[in-house]
Amino acid sequence: MRRGAIVQLTLLALIVGGLTTWVALYPVWLPPTASEQADRIDFTFWYVTVICIAIYAIVIAALVYSAWKFRVGPDDDSDGAPIHGHTGLEIGWTAIPFVLVTSMAIVSAIVLARNDRTGSNPLKVDVTAQQFAWTFKYPDQHGLTSNVLRLPIGRPARFTLRALDVLHSFWVPEFGQKQDAVPGTTTQVTVTPNRLGTYPIICTELCGLGHAVMRSTVIVMPKDEFEAWVSKSGKAVGGGGGGTAAGKAVFVNNGCGSCHTLKAANSTGKVGPDLDKLPDYAQQAGKPLEQFVHESIVNPDAYIEKGYPANVMPKNFASLPKDQLDALVKYLVASSKGAK
Ligand code: CUA
Repeated sequence: MRRGAIVQLTLLALIVGGLTTWVALYPVWLPPTASEQADRIDFTFWYVTVICIAIYAIVIAALVYSAWKFRVGPDDDSDGAPIHGHTGLEIGWTAIPFVLVTSMAIVSAIVLARNDRTGSNPLKVDVTAQQFAWTFKYPDQHGLTSNVLRLPIGRPARFTLRALDVLHSFWVPEFGQKQDAVPGTTTQVTVTPNRLGTYPIICTELCGLGHAVMRSTVIVMPKDEFEAWVSKSGKAVGGGGGGTAAGKAVFVNNGCGSCHTLKAANSTGKVGPDLDKLPDYAQQAGKPLEQFVHESIVNPDAYIEKGYPANVMPKNFASLPKDQLDALVKYLVASSKGAK
């Protein structure tokens, strides 16, 4: 090949490579990372991207160069000269991609394996997904339960996922990891948070009418703050206490607020009926308020408020322990009366 052609090809490849690199770098394609796993996934992503940009630049340069230099003239109907391939080139474009693709597979396998490592002392978190809420339980912290996920920074958290009704999927973009929650089985995923902050938890499997609002929040906090939260929350649970605090805890822990509006709980869900209007609904149903609220929890399709579809409210709240169910009914009756 002539020297001039090599210089032109190289220039073309550099221009295409430069433009493609700009497209890869200038818009921010990936969320900022907040876990060790996400950092490794990002590394894999960029490793593959750099290789792809290089190959793309070479292929496009050859394509553009060929179209430009070897165009037929307007009246040229002759056949091209018969050329037998080029053994050296053919070996090159077989061996180099083989090495590159194999290296991508090796890098990915290492990242997958390392991302699944939990270390010897992971923080265990049981995740329960149901239409349309997340619940997080810490089995080693006296079964502490919350619908906001709190994690100490720097400690691997091992999540065990369950689904009570249909497929859901647990996803925090900043953590990089994503895992389905599947009815009838458990799935696992590990996250080691490495940046303090508050990030969204998103259900990323279409799971029904409230899928889009099936969201929660994860707070990555310093280790001592996490310990303080655990001991404070543990006392609140143990302390019991009368009033409506227990009922509010049941409301919050079961994620009722993701579907229902209730001023007393600062919830603004719109999937199900507005619970501040419970007294009106009870009147329409022709039932005493307390009985109506109880029935609507354990047998949600007994009375369907106009404008809301049936078979959306999960039926599994009927299996709440009796003291929790009673507390929840009491709380809803008191709050909805208060809202009037
Ligand atoms: Cu749960 Cu989408």
